[in-house]
Parts: sequence; C-alpha cells; structure tokens
Amino acid sequence: SLAPQAEAAGYSLLAFDSIGSTNSEALDRARQGTPGPLWVVSPHQRSGRGRRGRAWEGPAGNLAASLLLDVTCDPSVAATLGFVAGLAVEQALRISLPALEHGSRLRLKWPNDVLLDGAKLVGILLESEMMMGGRRIVVVGIGINVVAYPENAPYRATSLAASGAHLSAPSLFETLSATWLACHAQWRNGDGLPEIRRQWLTRAAGVGEAVAINTGSEIIRGTFETIDDAGQLIVRQADGSLKTITAGDVHFGAA
Ligand code: BTN
Repeated sequence: SLAPQAEAAGYSLLAFDSIGSTNSEALDRARQGTPGPLWVVSPHQRSGRGRRGRAWEGPAGNLAASLLLDVTCDPSVAATLGFVAGLAVEQALRISLPALEHGSRLRLKWPNDVLLDGAKLVGILLESEMMMGGRRIVVVGIGINVVAYPENAPYRATSLAASGAHLSAPSLFETLSATWLACHAQWRNGDGLPEIRRQWLTRAAGVGEAVAINTGSEIIRGTFETIDDAGQLIVRQADGSLKTITAGDVHFGAA
C-alpha cells in the first residue's frame, strides 16, 4: 500500500500480481485519460523494459513500480525526474536496511542506477508523452532486484537477497512512496535539479575517477567531473577539454 502521506497528497495505486510492464500499463492508463499521480506496481513483469531497448525481466518477488505524473515543466527539466527517483530509491533502501548504510555500500550510478557493492540493484526508465489536448505526462519506472537479478546482463548485477538483505517488496514500496514525496517536493521547490543534484553527487559512484562512456556511437574516456543542472555527465578528457554527455552507459576504470 501507499504511505499515508502519499495518499494524503492525492497519489493513487494500482497493484497487479503479474503484469507485462508497469511502464506500459501506466502509459496506457494515461492514454485512456487516467490522471496522475498514479503508482502502478507489481512483483512480476513478463515483458519489462529497460533502457536502450533492453529487456528487464525477473521472477516473482522483485519490485516493478511506475509512477505516472502530469507535468507542465520544460521536457528537459522533466527529464531530471530520474535523478529524483534514484535518490528516493536509495533513501528508501537506507531506511529499510540500515545495515547497508555502513561502508557506503549503496551508490548512485549515472544516469539513474542504484548500485549495491558496485553491482546494479536498481534500474530506472523514464518515458514521456504528449497526449491529446496538450497534456504532457512522464512515467518514472523503477525496477528493484529484491529476490533475483539477471544473470546474462551486460553488466554486474545483484539483488538484495543475494547480498543477505531480506526485505519484502511491498514494505519497500511503501517506504519508497514516502521518500519519493519528500525528494519530489525538494525538486519542485528547488526549481528543478540543483538541490537534488547536490545530494545526488554526494551519493554518486566514481566522481573524480576514470570512466569510459559508451554513447552507442562512440566511447568517450576521461575523468568523471560532475553532472550539470540538466543531469548531463561532464567528463574531462585527456587533453583537458570537458565533454558533456546526454546519454550512455558508464564503465568505471580506465578500460
Ligand atoms: C534499466 O535499463 O536500467 C532500466 C530498467 C527499468 C525497469 C523498470 S521495472 C518498472 C518499469 N516497468 C518497465 O517495463 N520498466 C521499468
């Protein structure tokens, strides 16, 4: 269920035992005229979607949660909601599992992943659409590996269970519905990303370190300097120049 403060703030919830994709369901509901804010959650997706056209699948027991929001801000500002979600998920995990706080085992990875002990625990997929009548919506899709993780992923992955952290997906979701509210309020009151960006950077993996970013068309190497107020990654290249990256997969280390 939703945290009481989320319910009080007018959020509603649709829960499914099993679903194709919570993001697709939220988009369909929006097209049918359902207003946000609406959470769609399920412990099991049959055709979950990841970034860059990848699949996001797993057995029952994980958490798939998508938040449908109506937005009026500029699309480039709406695109920074993924950082709000990353921060909210990381906070929910820290509240639910205080043991993870020690040794900074939880880290945010650009753009919107959450890592546990350096392996991917959480993925976030943002989708937006312009609807009839000028309505603009964003769906913030959050996938958390509670009991299982993909073994054939092109990156190192983990789950809470594999790390010895036992937690039920429904109680994690309830906490998340509350931390989202707090982070989203900061984002709204803070004129978009600046305040969220500051917090995100203190929790980020690899700042100041060597990174290689695969943008799909090229591989950019350098030092991870920071993110800007639009959420873009700033890399200092070997010749000293700064490069701004909008989308890509980050690899830590010089490789
Ligand atoms: C990634 O590739 O890292 C993003 C994964 C996003 C998965 C979540 S699970 C809930 C929501 N519904 C989907 O179909 N995808 C997102």
